[in-house]
Formats: sequence, C-alpha cells, structure tokens
Amino acid sequence: MKVGIIGATGLVGEKLLELLNERNFPVTELRLFASEKHLGEKYLFRDQEYEIQSLSEDAVKDLELVFCAASNEIAEQWVPILQKTALVIDKSSVFRLKDDVPLVVPEVNLNRALEHKNLIASPNCTTIPVVMVLAPLHQEFTLKRVSVVTLQSVSGAGRDALDQFIYETEVLAYHGEIPKDSASVLSAPIAGNIIPQIGKFRSDGYTEEEQKLILETRKILELDDLPISATCIRVPVRVGHCAVLTAEFASPVEPADVVRVLKNAPGILVLNNNEYPMPIIVEGRNEVFVGRIRKDYSTKAGITCLVATDNLRKGAALNAIQIAEEILSKREQ
Ligand SMILES: NC(=O)c1ccc[n+]([C@@H]2O[C@H](COP(=O)([O-])OP(=O)(O)OC[C@H]3O[C@@H](n4cnc5c(N)ncnc54)[C@H](OP(=O)(O)O)[C@@H]3O)[C@@H](O)[C@H]2O)c1
Repeated sequence: MKVGIIGATGLVGEKLLELLNERNFPVTELRLFASEKHLGEKYLFRDQEYEIQSLSEDAVKDLELVFCAASNEIAEQWVPILQKTALVIDKSSVFRLKDDVPLVVPEVNLNRALEHKNLIASPNCTTIPVVMVLAPLHQEFTLKRVSVVTLQSVSGAGRDALDQFIYETEVLAYHGEIPKDSASVLSAPIAGNIIPQIGKFRSDGYTEEEQKLILETRKILELDDLPISATCIRVPVRVGHCAVLTAEFASPVEPADVVRVLKNAPGILVLNNNEYPMPIIVEGRNEVFVGRIRKDYSTKAGITCLVATDNLRKGAALNAIQIAEEILSKREQ
C-alpha cells in the first residue's frame, strides 16, 4: 500500500512510523512530509532511508492511505485535496465533529468507520481512553452523567512544548527557578507547575480542549444529550495522560461489577486495588489502564476511577493505525 505521513517529524508522526513497523503494516511505498525546515532529512523505515518532502499536489498524487498528523491549519488545507484520491486518517480536530466524517475508536464504534467518504477522524488523546471506558459501562448500566478531570502530559502539546519542558526542567534543577519572562510555547512555564488551561478559553469559561472532550465523547457514544463536565490540566510529565473519571448510572453499581465489565472490554487493562495507573507505567504500552475503581459517594449510583494511556500510542498513532488496519481487513473480506 502506498502510504503518506504528513507531519512525519512530529511526535505523533514519529510514533506512526515506529508502530507501522512494529505492527507489520503492509507498506509498499512511503512518503514522508514535514515543513521546509526538515526538507531532505532522512528517516529510516525497515532498513530503507526516506527523505522528508514538502507537500505538493504532485507529491501526494497516487497515495492510497495518508495519516495526517500536523496542525489544524495544514489539515484544513490538505485533507480536502488528499481525500479526493486517498483514504485519509486525520489526527487534527478540524473535521472531528462534522456530520459526514466518522470519528472512530475501533474498540467502540468501528461500524461508523465503514461509512467513511475517504476521511476518518481520530479523536482527541483524552477522548479515546475516556470513551473506551464509558462505552462498555454504558452498555451494561446506562450512563446518566459524566465528570472528567484530566492530567495531560506535555507531549500532548507537540514537540516544541516537550523541548520547552525538558529545557525548563534543567533550568529549574540548576537555578532553582524559571525566569518569569522565560518564553514558553505553553501559556506558562510547565516545569514545577501545572497549567489548568489547554487551548483557548471560550465564552462559557471552558477551554477548547474541554469542549473537544465533551462533544467528541457525545458523538462517539451517540448520546447527544449526555451531561458531561470536563476540566483539562497540563502537568509536568513527558508522556502519559491520566483522567479522573466519574460516572453516574441509571441505578446503583458496585465497583466489582465495573471491574467485571472492564476486564472483558477490548484494549483495557484493569489494575488491582493496590496498584494504580501512572504515566511511567503506561508509556510504551498500548492498553488503556484503569485503577482506583470505587464508589462516588456524592451520588447514589456513581463510580469514580483513574484512567491512564500513552497519549502518543493509543491516544494518537495507534488508534489511527488500528482504524486503517480494520478498513483494510474489511476490504479483503
Ligand atoms: N501529541 C499528542 O499526544 C497528540 C494526540 C492526539 C492528537 N494530536 C494531534 O496530532 C497532530 C500532530 O501532533 P504532534 O504532537 O505530533 O505535533 P508536533 O510534534 O508539533 O508535530 C507537527 C508536525 O507537523 C509538521 N508540519 C508543520 N508545518 C508543516 C507543513 N507546512 N507541511 C507538512 N508538515 C508540517 C511538522 O513538521 P516540522 O517538524 O518540519 O515542523 C511536524 O512534523 C496535531 O493535530 C495534534 O493536535 C496529538
């Protein structure tokens, strides 16, 4: 299959390359795209070197599958061109809520992927684990209300943010403080700090990231009126997003029942009571980890738990590749 990766030098793009190799994805031809600053740089894939190219209509001609892992601006400009001839799996947030674009987590709503018009959107890196936990619980117990507080790693904001974090961590270690006027790609220094803002603020006081989490969850679960509130926080962690997820159901649910359902849910790993999900254990893993499952005493029928995922794997690259694998396997049937 002729495969293109847009944003191949980014954190998600590099993880896509790693996972395409790891999962033996059938790549017959590969084209890698990035900005001008990386033109001509060489990337190794299965013992062959590939040069970074810049995007042009000629360069994307005859690609069959394109993973788009670049900014919203690039996706907005290039996805409509690419989808005329290739199947596009897009990681940006531009098309996720459009009615005619499936927003897919294979373990939850693979059926939607089959309705694609050459474009499938992959959800936000926090939406994916949240719906993977909520979907099987909803099927069994009927969701009434959801509340999420996320603790999101710096790699979720891309390579520049991650570089900034590593730099700030060194400055903090050597000088004891980060200069107040220090430039940051985030809205504040992140080393030794947490930032309760991801994306711009909206007029209702929620941020864009919180809005994405709410609307994408409703779309994937096909529960347009599900009451959800979300608070998204950037934390000084390299890789691995966590979420404190609280759900209220139609009638009281025992934690043991939640454990039973989630142990049978695809892609989920339930930890025992005395273990808990943390970024350092989820980095490099494909599963969504769940732990600290207990009653939510603020409601009659609530459960609360801690969910954690490698945001670059299941939160981004892996989910996109799984979508492609499923579409390919359906074509072969
Ligand atoms: N990071 C995550 O955990 C995560 C999770 C889910 C979704 N996403 C989404 O995935 C996308 C990529 O995120 P990321 O974290 O990988 O960002 P990133 O590390 O900042 O990478 C951005 C990529 O876009 C490329 N790019 C910039 N201008 C370009 C141009 N004119 N033509 C082609 N490519 C261009 C960059 O190339 P250069 O290196 O040459 O600048 C780089 O390869 C974003 O839409 C993001 O919201 C990210």
